[in-house]
Amino acid sequence: MPADNAVTLPDTPDSYAKDLEKLEIELLLEGVFRHYGFDFRSYAYTSLKRRLWKRIQAEGLRTVSALQERVLHDSGMMEKLLLDLSINVTAMYRDPSFYLAFRETVVPLLRTYPFIRLWHAGCSTGEEVYSMAILLEEEGLYDRARIYATDINEVVLHRAKAGIFPLEKMQEYTQNYMRAGGKRSFSEYYTAMYDGALFNSSLTRNVVFSQHNLVTDGSFSEFNVILCRNVMIYFDRDLQNRVHELFYNSLAMFGVLALGNKESLRFSRFEPCYDALDPREKIYRRVR
Ligand SMILES: C[S@@+](CC[C@H](N)C(=O)[O-])C[C@H]1O[C@@H](n2cnc3c(N)ncnc32)[C@H](O)[C@@H]1O
Repeated sequence: MPADNAVTLPDTPDSYAKDLEKLEIELLLEGVFRHYGFDFRSYAYTSLKRRLWKRIQAEGLRTVSALQERVLHDSGMMEKLLLDLSINVTAMYRDPSFYLAFRETVVPLLRTYPFIRLWHAGCSTGEEVYSMAILLEEEGLYDRARIYATDINEVVLHRAKAGIFPLEKMQEYTQNYMRAGGKRSFSEYYTAMYDGALFNSSLTRNVVFSQHNLVTDGSFSEFNVILCRNVMIYFDRDLQNRVHELFYNSLAMFGVLALGNKESLRFSRFEPCYDALDPREKIYRRVR
């Protein structure tokens, strides 16, 4: 029977010295970056740590170093870790009030352009891309639009290209669509098959899906609209600033930047370069 003053084993997660854990996490992230090119070194630490431990426990491992050993020698484990760390939660017309504001505030500006380039950075499985394509179609703008939809993770991009979303989500998405100012019947845009809803392929006729890493890749075009919603929330302050610089350099003058509702330009050195078109919905316009 263990005595009251029994010493906890030093290699159990509970007794893990914080400094040692931090060192191991840094080494793991450095190894992942140098071996695979995925740079998570500036992601917000607390959330990153939680996700790493979930994977460690799921694999029946005991330390971050053990996970490092597995990840560096098994690309399948890297794929799993990429899914764990890249957090792909998304939805069609996520935050319907954002899409309503986009229709009312941004669409009139876009009407003045002969051609519109949009960039969905961190598009995950594509639900927001299909939502935007439908919105632009209904506003008569889709034929002059080109949407670039990018993500760090190729697995989610494959799903985005397929355009099949869970049928059981359609009720929720229909409500979101209506609250977002949708003008038709949402079911016009998909065909139900088994347990999936297959979205009309014409919705992606002007969409380019491509892998792009916001941490390590540069600008690749000049855009009229950049949407990067619920991505930078996982980055530390320094990385957020670097990504803001990338967006600033990728936006045409008077272009629009849309962020997620828990994100903002505050504390970014680029804040003075933008006017808020709708501060509540985090929609900004580059003015200098
Ligand atoms: C929570 S999802 C947000 C999806 C969508 N924008 C939305 O608001 O519903 C975050 C996405 O950002 C992507 N991501 C994370 N780090 C990234 C990076 N460095 N470069 C590009 N995409 C990244 C993830 O793979 C994930 O699909």
